[in-house]
Order: sequence, then structure tokens, then C-alpha cells
Amino acid sequence: SMNHESSHAPNVQNLMTGFVRPALRTREQRLNPFPWYRACLSQGTVLRDETSQSWDVFGYEEAQFVLKNHAHFSSQRTVDGQNVLGNYAPSILNLDPPRHTQLRRLINLAFTPKAIASFQPRIETITHNLLDAMKQETQGKSTEVDLVAALAYPLPVIVIAEMLGVPPEDRDKFKRWSDLLVEGPSDLRPETIMDLMTRRAAGRKELDEYFRNIVQLHRGKDDGTLISALISAQIENESLSLEELLSFCVLLLAAGNETTTNLIVNAWRCLLEHPEAFAMLRENPGLIDGVIEETLRYYSPVQATSRIVTEDIEVGGQKFSKGDRAVVWLGAANRDSRIFENPDTFIPTRSPNHHMAFGHGIHFCLGAPLAKLEAKIAILAMLSQIDEVSAVPTDLTPIISGFVYGVKSFPIQVTWA
Ligand code: HEM
Repeated sequence: SMNHESSHAPNVQNLMTGFVRPALRTREQRLNPFPWYRACLSQGTVLRDETSQSWDVFGYEEAQFVLKNHAHFSSQRTVDGQNVLGNYAPSILNLDPPRHTQLRRLINLAFTPKAIASFQPRIETITHNLLDAMKQETQGKSTEVDLVAALAYPLPVIVIAEMLGVPPEDRDKFKRWSDLLVEGPSDLRPETIMDLMTRRAAGRKELDEYFRNIVQLHRGKDDGTLISALISAQIENESLSLEELLSFCVLLLAAGNETTTNLIVNAWRCLLEHPEAFAMLRENPGLIDGVIEETLRYYSPVQATSRIVTEDIEVGGQKFSKGDRAVVWLGAANRDSRIFENPDTFIPTRSPNHHMAFGHGIHFCLGAPLAKLEAKIAILAMLSQIDEVSAVPTDLTPIISGFVYGVKSFPIQVTWA
């Protein structure tokens, strides 16, 4: 049976299947995992999942406890001291202190709030160019567009590409690579998992070669790109090794693209599913920050992350043992009624709104300000150019991934102002 197979799967396979739960398998379940979270939370903040041999952490306090306590809950992906990520250097996402601290400090030298804010005019220009292309095709009439393909996908890819100093012409390659990096197995058959692992390994290899070339082009040139800043970043004579640099580029691509795309699309889904919230925003565009924060909580683009227990410890009354895997369901913590009143209601004016969509603790998302800036610019630009907009009634197709939450396309009917 499937249970039997997956419980004996080697750990590296478990890394891929670890987020798949029987309750999250159908199209409807992937589009709406929230009733499952609610049902789990009513049973306990921490539950054991035998199929994946892991602990599921649903409660907000418990999720924070795990993510805060990096000494007991490791982000490293090693089995018997071996890096299971293959022959690649782990990125900061998969490192613990002290190396994580050192690398993050180096990266922070290049990835500063100032550097991100300086990108605002470029983000605005890119957004307007994409909107112009959308309008041109339809000659100003009411028309159906796919929000994902026309705006939400290309925007963050172009931004990251420009930051890293790679030409936007390569964005189709980027799409293929970044899709692959977040893709989950569609079922738990060993063939399916092996196939995905093989395709992913090939994609990772191509990406590595691609970025090797980019680094070569920017080495020694202080050309204002993020990549040249990363190459020259130094603290106490320490800098990023070539391997670490490549892994960071791959992480930026994976962590920065699909997530931001889904934030933009999920925000529009929220607005179109809640006409009163949409009317409020049209009346008062200043509500945009609240809309984005509430989207992050309500339709969290990243639903889960995981850790490995380094030492026996109790969480939410359950005893976790060394070597156990803990899956932290950010999307469930963000709907914990102990913290959020009416958690299943979309309330853009919610205050406070301390959601965990960007994680918590030392691995807190490095790109949070960038993602929010892009979403804000994209939504406000659309609002200013649109007279009417509605969702096209259709069956949405969820992205197949254990941790990314979003839809493959989102057709909307738009009348341009
Ligand atoms: C880490 C979510 C956009 C770069 C994380 C984590 C989460 C997250 C939950 C922590 C994972 C963990 O603790 O295991 C999101 C969401 C985004 C987004 C929801 C968009 C809405 C971005 C962007 C970038 C980025 C645009 C970069 C351009 C990173 C990096 C880390 C990270 C580098 C690792 C930080 C570390 O390990 O110290 N993100 N992210 N993210 N994110 Fe994001």
C-alpha cells in the first residue's frame, strides 16, 4: 500500500513527499486546505502523521516555538552527516548557525532595504510596460486576460533577473527552472517521485551552469547589480564562495518568483471573492497595505516549511524525538482562532495582524519587503487603469506543490479605464 511504501522511503524522498497529506490530494483540497487545518486544530495544535513519519504543527504558538528554537529544530538537510541536496552548497535556507549567521550577514550587505527601495522606479516601469502590453492586445476594450501570465508571473521574474544582472530574454528558461524547484509529486508512487527527482536534478544542473556564467560576467565589475555586490561582499576577510553564491542565486529564483506571483494573484482572488473589501480599497487605495497583509495571512503563498529535531523536546504536549521531522503549517497557524478573531474571514483592516506568512526567527524571509513592494505596485497600477474587473467563472487549477499555495492561471474580465 501507499502507506507502507512511503514509510520505508529513503529520507531524500521524504523531503519531497513530506508535505503531502491524504487530506490535500484532490483539486478542491489543494485549492481549499483550510477546512483540513480547522479540523486538525480542533484535535490538537500538534499531531502525528504516520504516512510521512512526521509531526504536523498547526498551532500559532507552537509554530513560533519551533521556528524560534533553531538549536532544537534544524534547517539543515543532512542524513548521517551527508548533504542530501546533492553536490551543491546548501543555501542560507538550509543552514543553521553559525554558518547561517555569517552568510546572512554577508548577504545583508548587498540585499539592503535601501537597495530594494531603490528598485521601486524600475518595478513601476516594468509593471506599466506589462499593463501596456495587456491593453495593446485588446485595443482598450473589455477583455479576458490571464492575470498570472500577463502580469503576476513576469513581474517578479524580470525584477529578480535585473537584480541579478541576467537578461530578461531568459525568462522562459527561468520559468521552467523555478516551476521545477517548487513542484511537488502529483502522487506518492515511487515512479512519480523518481521522475520528479530526475527532472529536478537536471534543472538544477542547468541553472548552476547558467549562474556560473553570470557570475563570471560580473566578477570584478562594480556595476551596481546585486550579483556584483554579493561577489564583493566581505566581513572580516570572509566572502561568499562561488558555490555559496550559486546556491543563493538559485534560492532567490525559487524563493522569490513563485511566491510573489502567488501573492499578487491571491490578493486579486481575495478582492474578487470579497466585493465589500474590493469596494473599500477602490474608495481608499491607502488600504492596500492592509489588503496585502491580510492576503498573506488568509491565502498564504507559502503554506508550510519543515525542520529536523536535533534533540528530544516537547511541543504542544507531544514528545518529539531526535531525528523526527516537524512540518510547520504556516497557513494553519495563520488561521489559529487563539490568535486571530474570525480567522476564516478576510478582513483587510485587521489589526494587529502578526501572521507568519514570511516565517519567524532567524530564517525570516529576506525578500519580504521586496515581495510586498511588488504586490503593492502591481495592484495599485491595475486599480488605476481598470474600470471594471471580475473573475471569469471557471474551475481554477491549483499549483501542485506541498508548500506553495496558488493557481496556475487566473482569468479575469477587465474593462480598461
Ligand atoms: C525565507 C516566504 C518572497 C527570499 C522565507 C521563509 C518563508 C518565505 C516562509 C522562511 C522559510 C523557513 O523558515 O523555513 C515568502 C513569501 C514570499 C517570499 C510568502 C512572497 C510573498 C521572497 C522574495 C525573495 C525571498 C521576493 C527574494 C528576492 C527568501 C530567502 C529566504 C526566505 C533568501 C531564506 C532566509 C534565511 O534562510 O535566512 N521566505 N518569501 N523571498 N525568502 Fe522568502
